[in-house]
Amino acid sequence: MGRAYVYVILGGGVAAGYAALEFSRRGVGHGELCIISEESVVPYERPALSKGFLLPEAPTRLPSFHTCVGANEERLTPKWYNEHGIELVLGTRVKSVDVRRKTLLTSLGETISYKYLIIATGARALKLEEFGVSGPDAENVCYLRNVADATRLVEVMQSCPGGNAVIIGGGYIGMECAASMVINKMNVTMVFPEAHCMARLFTRKIANYYEDYYKSKGVKFIKGTVLSSFEKDSDGKVTSVVLRDGTKLLTDMVVVGIGIRPNTSLIEGQLTLEKGGIKVNGLMQSSNSSVYAVGDVATFPVKLFGETRRLEHVDSARKSAKHAVASLMAPNKTWDFDYLPFFYSRVFTLSWQFYGDNVGEVVHYGDFLGSTFGAYWVKNGYLVGSFLEGGTKEEYEAIAKATRLKPRIEDLAELERQGLGFAVLI
Ligand code: FDA
Ligand code: NAD
Repeated sequence: MGRAYVYVILGGGVAAGYAALEFSRRGVGHGELCIISEESVVPYERPALSKGFLLPEAPTRLPSFHTCVGANEERLTPKWYNEHGIELVLGTRVKSVDVRRKTLLTSLGETISYKYLIIATGARALKLEEFGVSGPDAENVCYLRNVADATRLVEVMQSCPGGNAVIIGGGYIGMECAASMVINKMNVTMVFPEAHCMARLFTRKIANYYEDYYKSKGVKFIKGTVLSSFEKDSDGKVTSVVLRDGTKLLTDMVVVGIGIRPNTSLIEGQLTLEKGGIKVNGLMQSSNSSVYAVGDVATFPVKLFGETRRLEHVDSARKSAKHAVASLMAPNKTWDFDYLPFFYSRVFTLSWQFYGDNVGEVVHYGDFLGSTFGAYWVKNGYLVGSFLEGGTKEEYEAIAKATRLKPRIEDLAELERQGLGFAVLI
């Protein structure tokens, strides 16, 4: 016999923390809710790991960034969970889930049963081995998904002050780590296969701005290629990265950020999957009505686009978690999730926000030689996406509102002429 709960949250990341806060606000009873997490600490704001955590001066450390400080809410410390009667099973991997029997089996061999399950298992970092590169298990090759990875990355960086670092991948992890490592006075070279950085979101024009800025800080870019192998010393440490064209980069450390895969393996064959995630309806409910999915692992309907999406960003994790709990605890008062996708990043003194979808025709605006510029995406004559670098709080709110309204755009040249003013005046 194992333990039994009304609600179990599987996974202890961002979504779990925000779900816990919502459960407590809606009056969950003591002993009714349990969070099971492989990590040994209570939920924290993962975005800090590539930003404040990596700073050389006064770095951010737990407990300061436990959820839910990222949304200016309460900071949920272990004491908070204790006071609210929320049980924590930390440092414990769930090995299997049986949705028919409503049970979970932990790595310690314990069976935990639930009435309702919220799957918040997030995602794992893709490994170079999965792309056929052998030998990346060296101690100076770092990935970045959790606080243990971030702690290791800092230790490796501190073991080679002022040294060379090669960053594999030109996405979010690559860009944010490159900036943080330059601030640590490392010599950074970024290697990625695309023609420009942040290819999933940025246009070439936007990417050029950030690449030029990074170059002015000493970052080197090697684009359009991937690594083929590592060379190591007799201690097994990587000493150089060999690229597909034969170029050899001498290095003291390597950081890899080549994308993620949602952690769905526990429920494969039991729940419907779509777009790599667990398919849920507007209440965040999966194909089994007792199981909900939230955060990076959930593929949910985005009303605004009229299609489903799986998003890998913190705002969506926070809000989808809150929505799932509302659906569970007040089913008659909860409507379908109506989410406006929101992504952001902060590097050096730069800061951008993006709302909506980056499809269709692009209209750039603003001063690409200065510090405030952006872009709109227009699909089938409607504004569907907005990007802004260097905006004020009010300007970011304006692009969010404009994107949510999805206005008709008759004339792209006029939109370009009005630029940010279009959103501000809408
Ligand atoms: P999350 O990954 O946070 O949590 C999943 C949890 O489940 C983990 O604790 C994991 O250990 C646990 N788990 C998984 N399988 C398990 C099992 N079988 N048994 C037990 N536990 C299990 N986004 C953004 O919008 N802006 C930003 O600036 C950043 N910055 C950023 C930096 C870094 C370094 C990363 C890695 C990610 C970001 N993100 C981001 C993305 C954002 O952090 C991400 O979208 C959310 O953390 C997703 O929240 P989830 O709760 O879904 O997964
Ligand atoms: P990503 O998808 O943003 O970027 C992956 C990058 O890997 C691609 O841009 C590409 O350049 C590169 N790549 C792919 N295959 C490769 C290969 N075989 N060899 C070399 N390079 C290859 O993923 P990420 O940067 O690893 O980020 C991981 C997750 O963390 C994402 O979910 C992301 O949303 C999240 N994250 C978000 C933020 C943010 O929103 N500000 C910040 C950090 C991390």
